[in-house]
Amino acid sequence: MTVDGKITTRNFSPVDFTSREDKLHLFRKRALADAVLIGHSTLRRDNVRLGLPKTDLSKARTARDQTPYPIRVIVSNEGKIDNQLTIFQTDISPILIFSTARMPRKFQAALREKATLHLTKSRHVDLVAMLEKLRSEYNVHTVACEGGPTLFRALLERSLIDQLNLTIAPYMFGGANAPTLTGLSKEFLPASVHCGLIDMRVVGEECFLTYRIKHPRRRSK
Ligand SMILES: NC(=O)c1ccc[n+]([C@@H]2O[C@H](COP(=O)([O-])OP(=O)(O)OC[C@H]3O[C@@H](n4cnc5c(N)ncnc54)[C@H](OP(=O)(O)O)[C@@H]3O)[C@@H](O)[C@H]2O)c1
Repeated sequence: MTVDGKITTRNFSPVDFTSREDKLHLFRKRALADAVLIGHSTLRRDNVRLGLPKTDLSKARTARDQTPYPIRVIVSNEGKIDNQLTIFQTDISPILIFSTARMPRKFQAALREKATLHLTKSRHVDLVAMLEKLRSEYNVHTVACEGGPTLFRALLERSLIDQLNLTIAPYMFGGANAPTLTGLSKEFLPASVHCGLIDMRVVGEECFLTYRIKHPRRRSK
């Protein structure tokens, strides 16, 4: 995010405001996870593949008894996901889509050729049920969520985030209509979330922060 807390501009256009080091940092974190999770808007706007650029990251995964690439997981309530997006052009790892029965039949048919669909009859994806399924059916123990802010906020509201990796980049965007980490919602979070700073690293003009999210009602492991 920028110094003034923005994660994109008001147009939600794909913005590239962090360094090569930050991109490597993202890939290193992604490489540690069993699954990488992304919201539909971020997938559509940034058109990411969710792979790993360097073979040594894949090799390290294999040495840790992980698959070469994390499972790729997309969440969408409406399910109108374009099957021509870049992610569907690569078969490096399975793609799972958690959505609802609201997904139009035409999209279901097209997406089934490239991904496994998990559609709930409810109007909204149940994130707890999704994580339980990832664990029980796909042996996923660590999930790296790469946003965007709407998805991040939904996970945060349900106390489903353990750790936040945050890079502060040396820019300010301003603008009430440019989202922050928790999106554009004017609503407060149900309760303020206490973050414990566990690491801070400065590289060039960027600051790499790691926070442990403290869950008051959850017993610590
Ligand atoms: N600076 C950064 O590090 C960073 C990181 C990530 C994203 N971004 C930026 O963030 C912007 C997108 O923001 P956003 O808030 O719209 O992103 P988002 O959270 O990726 O997308 C929102 C959409 O994802 C689906 N979704 C989110 N939460 C869900 C839930 N709990 N259950 C079911 N579906 C859910 C819904 O899709 P449907 O509408 O299909 O139902 C929702 O409309 C982009 O401009 C992107 O570049 C920046």
